[in-house]
Amino acid sequence: MPVSYHGEEMCPVDPVIRLSTARISKAFGATQALNQIDFDLRVGEIHALLGENGAGKSTFIKILAGDYSADQGEITYDGKPVRLQSPSDSRNLGIRVIYQEFNLVPTMSVAENICLGSYPPGRLPATINITEMKRLAQEVLGRLGEEIPIQTLVRNLTVAQQQVVEIAKALLCQPTVLIMDEPTSALNDQETEHLFALLRSLRDRGVSIIYISHRIDELFKLANRVTVLRDGVTVGTVDIGAATRATLVQMMVGRELAEMYPKRSIAPGQVLLEVKGLSAAGNKVRDVSFQVRRGEIVAIFGLLGAGQSELARTLFGAIPAASGHVLLDGQPITLHSTTAARAAGIGLVPEDRKTGGLVGQLGVKANLTLAALPRYARCGMVRTGLEMREATEWADRLNVKRASMSQPIRFLSGGNQQKVVIARWLANQSRVLVLDQPTRGVDVGAKVEIYRLLEDLCEQGVGVVIISIEMPEVLGIADHIYVMCQGRMVGPYSRTEATKHKLMSCAVGIEGE
Ligand SMILES: Nc1ncnc2c1ncn2[C@@H]1O[C@H](COP(=O)(O)OP(=O)(O)OP(=O)(O)O)[C@@H](O)[C@H]1O
Ligand SMILES: [Mg+2]
Repeated sequence: MPVSYHGEEMCPVDPVIRLSTARISKAFGATQALNQIDFDLRVGEIHALLGENGAGKSTFIKILAGDYSADQGEITYDGKPVRLQSPSDSRNLGIRVIYQEFNLVPTMSVAENICLGSYPPGRLPATINITEMKRLAQEVLGRLGEEIPIQTLVRNLTVAQQQVVEIAKALLCQPTVLIMDEPTSALNDQETEHLFALLRSLRDRGVSIIYISHRIDELFKLANRVTVLRDGVTVGTVDIGAATRATLVQMMVGRELAEMYPKRSIAPGQVLLEVKGLSAAGNKVRDVSFQVRRGEIVAIFGLLGAGQSELARTLFGAIPAASGHVLLDGQPITLHSTTAARAAGIGLVPEDRKTGGLVGQLGVKANLTLAALPRYARCGMVRTGLEMREATEWADRLNVKRASMSQPIRFLSGGNQQKVVIARWLANQSRVLVLDQPTRGVDVGAKVEIYRLLEDLCEQGVGVVIISIEMPEVLGIADHIYVMCQGRMVGPYSRTEATKHKLMSCAVGIEGE
């Protein structure tokens, strides 16, 4: 068998197959989420799974995790057929999964979270040796080269640190197969690099890794092979060395994407939103000033946790302002509540779709029209026909993959939920729209569509503020860019003067003082 090499380190990849599936299928009602999936995972490789929102990636790994059982098909581990009927079947084989949404207990310490993962639910030992637990947690974090105090409560950690805790928890059981569902969607560049180094070293020690991501570019730094899913079917598996960005997009979307950032030249109008010396309660936003003109996209770049989400929430009236002024069309406004902000015409697409946006048990339509209900009302009655028509139109524009408009939103794939949050606010006719990491977890095709819709809004004179940790997005879509670091803001930089280097220097606080 040929030995293939990948990356700078030129590490050999062992072609022995650890895990494989044949003809795996899974339906949810009328939705055929997976249709005859053949897949194999070698010992010591990083195998990426790529596909549009709703393609079936998470469903597939839930089957490997024993969370869902397949309707048909076979799974083989080290050459032997296995049945994965429960999570413990899968765990016993050494398969560990880190999900899109973390499974940590926020009120427990780092050490407790790391160690409790080793016990099956409901089978905690009567007494837990605390000293032993701390030693184990310390040891596994040490192996990862991480310095997170093990006594800290998980809720006080950054997202990147929480992820390290998830990985430590998985490693404690010495997994042979590690599966990660969109691990970098909440990480910045440095944290991502750090994670990659970690994953490469695990791979080199023989761990097999399945890696799901919508960030195609990063796969070239990390993966050995890529399997593309589309509508529950395998489109193909390619060696990363034989793939290009364009071929992967083509496989995923079924067509070429002409332009990632469809930027139009729109002449900016009058200043629409002006923020002067704004500080938020809690000191996460300090003396921030910026302005947004009609028809303009202003980006706020920063590392995660630089205060940008708090700024968005202050503008939306969800966090009280401690000082400063906000003017809309030159008139001072008071943002004492979200209702006041909404009435003034400010819309917010929140960062976290789970806590900030969606009502899981309500249907796609209801979630889409929630913020705009008064628009559909006449004489106290909701005009349901109009509501349905408009909601369907938005869902179609963003290609929200759903069984019906009344399907409960929690059954949609992660990226499709995010599209609903965005569509809701696009439909709400805000004068200023603030979007906090709107394209997190969204596939490339839908990203382009979202950028296009933002440009449409600009043409209608809306002012758009987009908060993003993704440098290419910021450079690709914004007219002006501000950078936040520890609650303070610098800028603006115009499209032409902003560079990757300049923005990063500001974001880490070594420029722009
Ligand atoms: N529990 C469920 N009940 C009903 N339908 C479901 C359920 N889980 C997934 N689906 C459907 O199965 C399809 C595949 O979803 P899945 O979550 O696997 O997609 P994905 O590739 O992970 O997408 P994303 O990139 O958005 O996370 C979607 O149409 C989704 O709505
Ligand atoms: Mg998913």
